[in-house]
Amino acid sequence: MKLGMTKCCQGRLAITALAGLGLALLGRPTPAQGAGNPLPHVVNENGHHALIVDGAPYLILGAQCHNSSAWPGLLPKVWPAIDALHANTLEIPVYWEQFEPEQGKFDTSIVDLILKEAREHHVRLVLLWFGTWKNGSPHYLPLWAKSRPDLFPRMMAKDGRRQVDSPSPFAPAALQSDMSAFSALMRHLRAADPLRTVIMVQVENEPGTWGGSVRDYSPEAEKAFAAPVPAELLQALGVKSGAGGNWQAVFGTNADEFFHAWSVAHFIGQVAAAGKAQYPLPLYVNAALRDPLTPGPAGTYETGGATDNVLDIWKAAAPAIDILAPDIYQNDSAKYRAVLEHYARPDNPLFVPETGGTGNGTRMCFAALGRGAIGWSPFGLDYTRTTQEALAPVGLNYRMLEPIMREVARLNFEGKVQAVEEETGQGTETLDFGAWRADIGFGASGRGASGNAPGNATPIGRALVAQIAENQFFVTGAYCKIDFKAASGGQRDFLQVEEATPVERTPHSAHNRKGAGAASAFHFFRIWNGDETDWGLNFGSAPQVLRVTLGAY
Ligand code: DGJ
Repeated sequence: MKLGMTKCCQGRLAITALAGLGLALLGRPTPAQGAGNPLPHVVNENGHHALIVDGAPYLILGAQCHNSSAWPGLLPKVWPAIDALHANTLEIPVYWEQFEPEQGKFDTSIVDLILKEAREHHVRLVLLWFGTWKNGSPHYLPLWAKSRPDLFPRMMAKDGRRQVDSPSPFAPAALQSDMSAFSALMRHLRAADPLRTVIMVQVENEPGTWGGSVRDYSPEAEKAFAAPVPAELLQALGVKSGAGGNWQAVFGTNADEFFHAWSVAHFIGQVAAAGKAQYPLPLYVNAALRDPLTPGPAGTYETGGATDNVLDIWKAAAPAIDILAPDIYQNDSAKYRAVLEHYARPDNPLFVPETGGTGNGTRMCFAALGRGAIGWSPFGLDYTRTTQEALAPVGLNYRMLEPIMREVARLNFEGKVQAVEEETGQGTETLDFGAWRADIGFGASGRGASGNAPGNATPIGRALVAQIAENQFFVTGAYCKIDFKAASGGQRDFLQVEEATPVERTPHSAHNRKGAGAASAFHFFRIWNGDETDWGLNFGSAPQVLRVTLGAY
C-alpha cells in the first residue's frame, strides 16, 4: 500500500502543478478534472479501501437528486442545491426509457448535458442506471420493451400468475437488451468523458422483489431451481457437502430466497460485465435493506437484492460489481450502525449511496466515516422538493470535511481516521491513537471539561480525528469539545493549532474548490490560541477544520 500511495501522491503533485500552470497561462481558474486522468478505480488493501480518482483517494461527499430530476428542465433545480450543500459528487439517474427510445437507437443528449453542467459546477458524477430493476419493478423499461411482456416478462408467483410487479430474471431477451443498452452507455462514457467526470456507475436500482413472491416460479425458474446448485456458488460459500444437490436440498428453508438472490445477481452481473468490457469504471449495486437486527422472514423485505444475508451469494454471482452498497433509511442509530458493520467487509468497501438527508440522522455520516466509508450520499437533495433550510445539516458535514476530503480519504485508507456521532444519553467518547487519546464531549461548552459533558439536547454532535503523524492530527467536529491526553501521563501541550481556510463555493471559485478536483490540501487560515484553545477545542455550528500539533510537558 505504501508504494501505491507514493505513486498516488506523486500523481497528485503533478496534477496540482499542471493546474497551477493552467491558472498562470489562462489567467482564470482551471477545472481540476484534467484530461488524461487515470481511470477511477477501487483499491482494497489490508481490509481498508479507497476510491481512487485522479490518482489519489477520494471521499464522496455526495447527494442524490430525486428520481425524476434528471431532465433538462429540472437540472436548474439540482445544481444550486449541490452547490449549497458543498457536495463534491452528484448521483443522478440515466433512464433506460429515455436513453433507448427506439430499440438499438441511443439518445445520449441528456447524459452529455449532465456531463457538461457537472464540469461547469466542478462536481463529479455517479450515474445510476435505471434499467431492468428500479425499486424491484421494471418501470423504467422503454415503451418498446414494456409493450412486449412476452420478451420482458414479470415474475410468476406460485399460483402460476405473472402478477408480481417485478421482472423475471429468467428472460434471455430482456437480459440481452439490458446488456446492450448498458454497454452503449458505458461505451459512450468512454468516448465522452476523458475528464473522468463520472467516477462510478450504479447498475440497476434496488433490484429484487417487493411482496407477492419471494422468487420467480416461471417454468424456466422452476427448471433452474430443480437443477444442481452451481459449483462456483458452493465453492464460494464453502459448502462441501452440497455437490449435485438442488437448491432445496442444499439450502432448505433458505432455498427460495438464496435462489432468487443468485438469479437476480447473475443477471445483473452479466449486465455489469458487458458494460465494464466497454469502459471499466467502478460499478456498484444498491440494496433495499432488511432489518439488520431483527430481520423477520423473507418476503417481509425486498428479496433478491444484496441484503446482508446474501452478500456472499452476490459476490460469487456478480464479480463485475465492485461494491454492494446499503441504502440506509434507518432512524434508529443502533440499526444504522449494524448496517454499516454488515457492509464494511474486507471484500466490500463501505459506501452509503442513499440515506436520509435531513434532521439529526445526518450525523451518521461520521458513523460511516469511522468505519472507513469511501463515501456517503443522502437521497432527494435538490430543489424540486427540498428547501435550502433542509439542506443545512448535510451542508455542515460537507463544509467541515471539504478542505481535507483528500486527506481523510487517504488516512482512512491507511486506517488512521476515527469518527463518531453522538448517541442519546452518551455525552462522551474516547478515541485511542496509541500515544494520544482524543476525548470528545458532546454538548460541552466554554470551560467545561469534555470528560463530563452532558450531551446535546438532541443528539446532533459529530467529530472526526485523523492522525497525520505521531503528534499531529486533523480535527473537526460540530456541537462538541475535543481535547487530547498523552498516554505517557505528561500534560498535553497545544504546540500549534492551525485552522484551515474555508472552501469558497461560488461559480468562479474553481481554483479554491480543491475538494472536487485533483488535489485538496490544508490551506492555512489562522492559528487558534488563548480562549480558543485554553479550555479544549470547542466546535459549534461553524464548519471549522484544525491541524493540531501536540507536545507534552
Ligand atoms: C430508494 C430508491 O433507491 C430511490 O430511488 C427512491 O425511490 C427512494 N427509495 C425513496 O424515495
